[in-house]
Amino acid sequence: MQNNDKNNAASANKIKIALLGLGTVGSGVMRVFGENGDVMAFRTGATIEIKTVLVRDAAKKRDFIEDNVVVTENIEDILKDEEIKIVVEMIGGINPALDYMTRALKAKKSVVTANKDVLAEHGGELLQLAEENGVDFFFEASVGGGIPIILPLRKSLSANRVTEIMGIVNGTTNYMLTKMTEEGASFETALKEAQDLGYAEADPTADVDGLDAARKAVILASLAFNTKVSLKDVDTKGIRKIKPLDIEYARELGYVIKLLAVGRESDKGIELAVHPVFLPKGHPLAAVNGVFNAIFVRGNAIGEAMFYGQGAGSLPTASAVAADIVEVGRDIVNGTLGSWHGNPLTEKKICPTKETESGYYVRLLVDDKPGVLGLIATAFGNSSVSLKSVMQTKRSIPEHAEIVAITHRVTHKFMESALDRLKNLTVVDEIKNVIRVEN
Ligand code: NAP
Ligand code: HSE
Repeated sequence: MQNNDKNNAASANKIKIALLGLGTVGSGVMRVFGENGDVMAFRTGATIEIKTVLVRDAAKKRDFIEDNVVVTENIEDILKDEEIKIVVEMIGGINPALDYMTRALKAKKSVVTANKDVLAEHGGELLQLAEENGVDFFFEASVGGGIPIILPLRKSLSANRVTEIMGIVNGTTNYMLTKMTEEGASFETALKEAQDLGYAEADPTADVDGLDAARKAVILASLAFNTKVSLKDVDTKGIRKIKPLDIEYARELGYVIKLLAVGRESDKGIELAVHPVFLPKGHPLAAVNGVFNAIFVRGNAIGEAMFYGQGAGSLPTASAVAADIVEVGRDIVNGTLGSWHGNPLTEKKICPTKETESGYYVRLLVDDKPGVLGLIATAFGNSSVSLKSVMQTKRSIPEHAEIVAITHRVTHKFMESALDRLKNLTVVDEIKNVIRVEN
């Protein structure tokens, strides 16, 4: 279509939409419409107009809303309005968001959402509902904020067998770990700053305990490996146990600590985990700092690819939401609504954590006396765990020392056996931390 024709089509067509939620992300979407509405209309072939917004408190002062936009607390004003063709959910949490999206799809309205909580638990049923009702259901902002990753996995990489997907997918914890590493900030200070910047979830325990990243891992793994996975399949650990000393040892040994979501497919099945890891400083993900996220994908045709950008925040997330709105708009203009029905999902075997493999960092508080190192090396050796390096440091507690060991790659069940042996040694006072080492 020539530009003039497209402009004509844009002025002839008007697509009305509703926003559910006007918080960090919703207000960002409003701003993107204000600043880029003309480009979006050009690319859609139609003008997209925000007709109605749903909020919890309609009396709250919101300067950025234009006068012609209806602000309501009643979802029926949107679901019963036949003019509204796209419902954009940015409330968060499971309910009422799930209920509103379900009813919107049943009312034959396309849905765009940034809500990984709902997707990780109910994504399959919502996609099916969209298919049954011949409408679109898009969710680019649910993983990696502004980074395009859902569309690349669905389309650009569809000719690959993906064997590994590894990502820094939580902006809050990456921001915190960066502050703790680069500025020596405390856990509490770093968390408060991430909250003030609008990165954290309403309940930030979902960020720091790894649940937010686990939800994103479920979404990524189901698209990358075409399989049904659920939250219980993700071995999930957060960053609460990471202490300044672990960060210091990582630095001394040539690593950085990152919270990674990991999905791998092998003969053992699908391995799924979220955990802090020691990453060598030269790894592409090691340089991803602050609120930035990155998703590293290994495919048998493309080789290695990495997707990088801001993983949270008002405008970056709104960029992905607004792009999905344009995508639905194009489908409306072209008469192709509901043309993506999701890749069919199989049910592949999940690899149990005890069968997964990696190197490990182990930090022990031990009695400072002759023979201790030998006893510890024997405990590892008797469990078939081979040590790559060991260092001993004197710490402030009298007659105690700290031993830091890095193991070679080992199956997790052998590592568990070694930890049991170490716990039973009288010279070991405490196993301070155990963190995986990725190479
Ligand atoms: P938020 O700042 O807490 O905003 C939530 C909005 O939803 C508010 O406008 C609130 O209304 C409205 N709301 C809450 N409960 C409601 C209800 N029962 N009925 C009607 N409206 C209700 O949340 P957010 O950070 O924008 O996050 C929104 C979604 O985007 C979540 O799914 C989140 O996980 C996802 N996400 C967020 C980011 C980010 O960086 N923040 C990035 C990617 C994805 P009031 O204004 O009246 O209180
Ligand atoms: N709380 C999330 C994060 C928001 O910090 O990454 C983006 O999903």
